[in-house]
Amino acid sequence: MLSNYLPFNNLITNDEWTFNGVRSSENWTHGYHRYPAKFLPNIVKKIIETHTNVGDTVADLFAGCGTTLVEAKIHGRVSIGVDINPVAQLITSVKTNPITPDTLANVYSTIKKVITDYNAEVFSTAVKHDRIDYWFFPENRNKIAYLYEAILKMEESQQVKDFFLVALSNVLKNCSKWLQSSTKPQIDPDKIPSEPFAAFKKQVNSMLKKNDAFFKELNKLNYLNTDCTIHLEDARKTSIATGSVSAVITSPPYVTSYEYADLHQLTAYWFDYISNLIDYRKNFIGTFYSYGEKLECDSKIAQVIIEQLKEKHLRTAKEMTNYFNDMQKVAVEMHRILRTEGRAFIVIGNTTYKNIKIESAEIFGELLELSGFTIENVIKRSIPFKLIPTIRDCNTGKFTTAANKNSKEVYPEEYIIIAKK
Ligand SMILES: C[S@@+](CC[C@H](N)C(=O)[O-])C[C@H]1O[C@@H](n2cnc3c(N)ncnc32)[C@H](O)[C@@H]1O
Repeated sequence: MLSNYLPFNNLITNDEWTFNGVRSSENWTHGYHRYPAKFLPNIVKKIIETHTNVGDTVADLFAGCGTTLVEAKIHGRVSIGVDINPVAQLITSVKTNPITPDTLANVYSTIKKVITDYNAEVFSTAVKHDRIDYWFFPENRNKIAYLYEAILKMEESQQVKDFFLVALSNVLKNCSKWLQSSTKPQIDPDKIPSEPFAAFKKQVNSMLKKNDAFFKELNKLNYLNTDCTIHLEDARKTSIATGSVSAVITSPPYVTSYEYADLHQLTAYWFDYISNLIDYRKNFIGTFYSYGEKLECDSKIAQVIIEQLKEKHLRTAKEMTNYFNDMQKVAVEMHRILRTEGRAFIVIGNTTYKNIKIESAEIFGELLELSGFTIENVIKRSIPFKLIPTIRDCNTGKFTTAANKNSKEVYPEEYIIIAKK
């Protein structure tokens, strides 16, 4: 460690938090949709079980695909999620609101009949966009348009329509020309995309089973109506009431790692959430497309890193500054929404960028203290599965594979910072 920041000194890995052999999508609705850098549900489960009570309110200001909210619901905790990404909002709302299994089964029978009526000669009028034409062969595009239109036309509740939209969203990548193993938007000239109707049916079948199990368990526990809301908002300034939350459990976007806007563009274009990527990217934190000019940050650890980066790559130094200043705003917001003695649990890893160690965890700890929190504990855990890419190219700083001889492992471990208001 470079910084020698006290709460992180002499930490040893805590095996109780490793959850070796556990996959991320086993239980409940966790596996509905792929989502980069999603939480291991067991981490959230353990925090909820050890630090909150039934009826408490739990919030996640970077809710992503809703791992915190799903775990809150099954534990009878009220939950509020915030994410800037409409795709995240759609997925989270479907994952946290299971539907009566009979209703879904009936609607699905109707959709299957509609699929058998598909006529390739009749061209659908559903969403058209040159980016959709870029990513999909015409045959697949027409089938997806047909499915999309069929779902929208159904005389069902929005909740039921959203269930099928999530299923469709999760197969878009497989049915497109997008390089399957990549989170970067990149065409694979050799890819044979999946056939949309078969992929959709397989996805729905898997989701029906998960909905069924989640619905039954919540019903048994009497938690079906436990409040759970997801806001399409900015984590730096939310509509959550001051002092209303018992615990914030969150994992922030990693700096310069995923471009969430870019990698959710297939769903965003299809479902008409966006008309262009430039506007869509604007409010995401940690993006390469941030244009702040500042090079000063209140965190002393961050400032040292910014000075080093400035020498190597000015643009990246500005990006980093932006990122940490944004994170400070989020720390202040977390402090505002928490009740007195409420706690924030931040799951965060460090990384190396262009051979400079970026101590995001230590910096976040410092920013929490600057925002009025007391650091109560820091847990160090190793990451057993490749839930997030762990290798970066030393020269370009981009994520890569171990086969690249310039590669270097990043985030083989991460931290859970526990901060008390
Ligand atoms: C590491 S992911 C969170 C994953 C989440 N823990 C899960 O299990 O799915 C970070 C999230 O931050 C969101 N995000 C980025 N900038 C944001 C902002 N300004 N306000 C709210 N959310 C934002 C991204 O859309 C992404 O969903």
